[in-house]
Amino acid sequence: MLETQVQPATIYLKDYKQPDFSIHSIDLVVELGEEVTTVSSSMTIKRMNHQASTLSLNGENLELISIRRNGLVLNDTSYECTDEYLHIPIPKSEEEFTLAIVTRIKPQENTALEGLYKSSGNFCTQCEAEGFRKITYFLDRPDVMSVFSTTIIGDADLYPVMLSNGNKVEEKQLDDGRSYVKWEDPHPKPAYLFALVAGDLACVEDHFTTASGRDVLLQIFVEKGNEDRCNHAMTSLKKSMKWDEEEFGREYDLDVFMIVAVSDFNMGAMENKGLNVFNSKYVLASPQSATDTDYDGIESVIAHEYFHNWTGNRITCRDWFQLTLKEGLTVFRDQQFSADMNSAAVFRIGDVQRLRAAQFPEDAGPLSHPIQPQSYVEINNFYTATVYEKGAEVIRMIHTILGKEKFRNGMDIYFDRHDGQAVTTEEFVKAMEDGSGIDLTQFRRWYVQAGTPVIKVTEGYNPESQQYSLTLEQENPKLAENFLPYHIPVDMSLLDGNGKAIGFTTDTGAKSTGKVLNLTQKKQTFVFNDINSEPTISLFRGFSAPVKLEQNLDNEQLAFLFSRETDLFNRWDAGQRLSSNILLSQVNRHDVGSLQILPQMYLSSIRNILNDRELDPAFAAIALSLPSEQDLAQKMPVVNVDAIHIVRNNALKEIGLKFESDFLQIYKDLRDLKVEGNQPIASNRKFKNTALRFLTATAKEDYFALAAEQYHAAENMTDAMASLFNLGESEGQIRDEIFADFYQKWEADPLVIDKWFTVQAMSSRPTALEDVTNLLSHPAFTMLNPNRVRSLIAAFVSGNPVHFHEKSGKGYQFLFNAIEQLNGTNPQIAARLVTPLGQWRRYDAVRQKLMTDKLEEILDISDLSNDVYEMANKSLH
Ligand code: PHE
Ligand code: ZN
Repeated sequence: MLETQVQPATIYLKDYKQPDFSIHSIDLVVELGEEVTTVSSSMTIKRMNHQASTLSLNGENLELISIRRNGLVLNDTSYECTDEYLHIPIPKSEEEFTLAIVTRIKPQENTALEGLYKSSGNFCTQCEAEGFRKITYFLDRPDVMSVFSTTIIGDADLYPVMLSNGNKVEEKQLDDGRSYVKWEDPHPKPAYLFALVAGDLACVEDHFTTASGRDVLLQIFVEKGNEDRCNHAMTSLKKSMKWDEEEFGREYDLDVFMIVAVSDFNMGAMENKGLNVFNSKYVLASPQSATDTDYDGIESVIAHEYFHNWTGNRITCRDWFQLTLKEGLTVFRDQQFSADMNSAAVFRIGDVQRLRAAQFPEDAGPLSHPIQPQSYVEINNFYTATVYEKGAEVIRMIHTILGKEKFRNGMDIYFDRHDGQAVTTEEFVKAMEDGSGIDLTQFRRWYVQAGTPVIKVTEGYNPESQQYSLTLEQENPKLAENFLPYHIPVDMSLLDGNGKAIGFTTDTGAKSTGKVLNLTQKKQTFVFNDINSEPTISLFRGFSAPVKLEQNLDNEQLAFLFSRETDLFNRWDAGQRLSSNILLSQVNRHDVGSLQILPQMYLSSIRNILNDRELDPAFAAIALSLPSEQDLAQKMPVVNVDAIHIVRNNALKEIGLKFESDFLQIYKDLRDLKVEGNQPIASNRKFKNTALRFLTATAKEDYFALAAEQYHAAENMTDAMASLFNLGESEGQIRDEIFADFYQKWEADPLVIDKWFTVQAMSSRPTALEDVTNLLSHPAFTMLNPNRVRSLIAAFVSGNPVHFHEKSGKGYQFLFNAIEQLNGTNPQIAARLVTPLGQWRRYDAVRQKLMTDKLEEILDISDLSNDVYEMANKSLH
């Protein structure tokens, strides 16, 4: 780190203080221009602290034009302006006053996509977490809630659509060719929920009538030409509105709900009050252009943002340390919604897969933090898998401990008690206690302790006494001696030799076949009576807690569970554990050059799945899929990327060869299936394309030809992408032709071209790193679009372990170059790319050195942003 660089300050939760002033209302007038935009803000401000002598407003990159207090102009000796604040002395006698501030900004030069910026010719805003201070001077903190009105003035031809939060109250044409639109939002809100959009957009409309009879106009604004790709988003929105009424009794509270799709967006979407702004990836879909996975993503993100209206907007966060209050809860709600709309078990498995893939490594590495962090440098770095996904698991555990009904009671109390407030996670947990009568004192540790708990299992069965005992012991490797035992809900059941649940007597004397144990001690034994034969334990059903299970099951036992478990999550998980054991034992033998022989018992458990025609095909597909290279890596003390890759590919090939005729039959049956009736076609497609993957893994030419044939016949993007993915692993003319054809066909469609970049970034071809490096100079590539950066760079560094970790260090250099460039244009995106380097401790000495050298180099980048500094600095130490 250069000595000239000042280390950015750390902000602590323990330093939280209530604001000295509150801003009751703000009237904004935004005059949009092609070079500068002028923002005039008139605020009514109330004193909250009688000792305070200065009002300090946040503001960054603003050109200050004028300030008036109570109508009188302040000259520049009566305030102080720094890079981050505007300090205005306020006489202590002043209880209430007005402040009018005029500033100028340059949205056209804003590449960081925070504050007001331009995307494809349209103006839009992103204010969470601290973007509003890049628009005007304000108390930019979530516990300052104000009533907003927004007037937008802009060129009538360029910006026929001008939107902000709330209801449109005035609209007129000005003499100078500009239009004037005024919006009022009656609900007080923090500045992070402010939004403004202006552009030449098309609008798709629908209506929803709430349970109490309010007619809500639903509008989705998209770039012209995309109107026919909004159906799924609109349907998902209506389903979400209905679901929140039925499940939580929550209705929408304005007459209009608007969604705008933009192509340049740092995240997935944003829940601004009444005016959600979305990454177009989570709005636009047609069967031709979007995969089944994209459809699922849209349904869940639309729901997520809609659900924020109550969990986030009506009740918001006191400060950013409380982020999981709204995010964990809202992710839990969107997961429950998606589970209800689809195959619940398959969706639950998907949620856990994402948690394990992203959150577990985060929590085991240098960036580990509790779901309620205690400090940060840059809040943008805390929109993490821990705050979101682990946060959702914590809410789910409360749901499991309380049961559905008491959970709902708790939610009702939370909404009643805190509507219109900015609160902390403590208020949420308290409402849950009050709604259930259940003490969550110990449970609160989940909010403040980092690390993934490990649960060790010991069992004992006594045939004489007919007693079965289960001993569970908790550990937390991250905190070692410093952790206090968690309150962990263990959803369990005892299975007999056929996989059927055995009845047992619970503490209350009632007969039961399954129950939730409350594990609260470091080591705790549970005894079950009247068990007349040795049972198989089924633990953490549905993944009832975000823990790692250490249970010494041998492969035979896992194979039994893989075919007989009645809990589908556990059934799938047993299969994954079995595969991992077998593949890792091959990796450890270091003898990875040749095709290994997979054990017979393993092959027969695969046959069981193939033969089980009762199974949901989507489940069969994920049950047959091998753990990813990243999953396997997590289970090795020192990751051997190359051996993992070879062993896994050999296994795919061997399974492909062993069951070649089965896979071919499945493939053909599902391909030729008539689409009529109520067939769940997405799950069939998934199974079919899994079969195709095993077939091409045999490396037989015929199957690449089959993939090519599928590509040409494809009527939907799911099938086209599956073909492309398979061909992406091959070499030769067919591959090259199809990649060229795909590009040509979809050139004008950025979301589809993203996929084209991603397949190449994730390919294991020997030239992959060279390919991605060349793609940086492709005319369609730009560092200024976050989706494009994710599609190529993030896809490569997190989805292509073998080539990213090339021993030459070239993969790390590739990443460094991208971070260096993005640090200047979009620090948020740059910072996120640092994460893979933070895993350096997991690799061999040579790679460790290469990776830490890159982190050092990152810290030496000139004009290093706080975002990147925090990530690199924490990753290194
Ligand atoms: N609050 C958004 C969500 O989770 C995420 C987001 C954060 C978007 C910060 C933009 C900026 O729905
Ligand atoms: Zn959210």
